[in-house]
Amino acid sequence: MRIGIGNDHAAVEMKMQIKEYLEQLGYEVVNYGVDTTASCNYPEIGEKVGRAVAAGEVDCAVLICGTGVGISMAANKVNGVRAAVCSEATTARLVKQHNNANIIAFGARIVGVETAKDIVKAYLDAEFEGGRHATRVAMFEEIENRNK
Ligand code: RB5
Repeated sequence: MRIGIGNDHAAVEMKMQIKEYLEQLGYEVVNYGVDTTASCNYPEIGEKVGRAVAAGEVDCAVLICGTGVGISMAANKVNGVRAAVCSEATTARLVKQHNNANIIAFGARIVGVETAKDIVKAYLDAEFEGGRHATRVAMFEEIENRNK
């Protein structure tokens, strides 16, 4: 499985630690983020990663900024993206099982690296449950279509 990862200047160290963790778990990781702490604009990274997920360049992605919020807001502007910000593992599991999130996001200024590892592991180990959840997730696309 190919996993995209994106981050702004607030999350360089966290990105490197999570990238290494994902590689240790056996995933291929594509880095779309910045590798220096020079100030940058998180919407550009969020959009780039959102487009990569929507185009199928990667199977899913991890986004990290200071809070996880801004970068996921940007990604969610791309049609087909379902990015979810999580601060703990239970939510990370549920956003895959119920919402079929294709991007998991968190904040490097909010969670420590061990919690971040728990979040990505819970997300990646979970599976979308389909059924009534599929009906609801399909409604996201209907909203996108009404906004075209
Ligand atoms: C950058 O200072 C910070 O605003 C950004 O990383 C993020 O937290 C935005 O949502």
